[in-house]
Amino acid sequence: MKKHVNGNEYFVQDQGQGAPVILLHGFPLDHRMWHSQMETLSAQYRVLTPDFRGMGQSDVPVTPMSLTQYAQDILALMDELRIEKATLGGFSMGGYVAMALMRLAPERFSALILANTRPEPDGQEGRKNRMNMAVSLYEKGAAAARDAMMPKLVTTATIQEQPQLIDNLKMIMDSMPPEGLVHASIAMAFRADSVDLLPTISVPTLVIAGEQDAIAPPDVMKSMADQIPGAKFHVIPSASHLTPMEKPEAFNELVLAFLKEVSLKSMDYHSPS
Ligand code: MLT
Repeated sequence: MKKHVNGNEYFVQDQGQGAPVILLHGFPLDHRMWHSQMETLSAQYRVLTPDFRGMGQSDVPVTPMSLTQYAQDILALMDELRIEKATLGGFSMGGYVAMALMRLAPERFSALILANTRPEPDGQEGRKNRMNMAVSLYEKGAAAARDAMMPKLVTTATIQEQPQLIDNLKMIMDSMPPEGLVHASIAMAFRADSVDLLPTISVPTLVIAGEQDAIAPPDVMKSMADQIPGAKFHVIPSASHLTPMEKPEAFNELVLAFLKEVSLKSMDYHSPS
């Protein structure tokens, strides 16, 4: 469905009933990357998968974006849907936005899932690559992001063995508005350093890495998890970057176990002594 958020038409898939779980997608993708999680988790939870501004079906911004603005859109969406508090999950770019949200409004979130993401900002080389990507997106369209990202998203074994998954991924990436991806590239290039945020995160946190992820390698993610008080850390074997789509069963199992534990803890907390 479409909602009016910060003056823009904003797409969100909203399915299931129960405690709300908001899942934020990566680059250059949209809510469809969460298809398997939506199917599985919405049997027990209200699952919300928005499209960031300029990606998927949400309006393309006409002024520059920052990760803080993507985060403000999520807060405005929560207000629009009257969701006071939710579990927040972010994959890669979605993880950067999730960290921006934990900085902006930690009181709106009761638990956090960070998948295949990292807290450090880009270095000079990384920024340069993003600028080159922005130029290629203007010249070649969304295919520029697809060609650059595909080999980094899944393992070579998956590329060979799961043609349907690859076709689906291509279809999603090819449908992205190139200008929206330019905004996202530039916003990521100038994102804030979130390392200082990590020790201040006070909600239960699950950190998920992919064994062969070169974008957010397991050692980087382990060090991130070590800095978040009490965070749980798991590595999904034989997976690259896009763990929710490449290994959906393993991913969903970790998330379901985490959500169950979090809800049991909050029942303990609320039950009369
Ligand atoms: C993503 O999957 O969202 C991107 O790999 C994030 C990034 O390029 O830093």
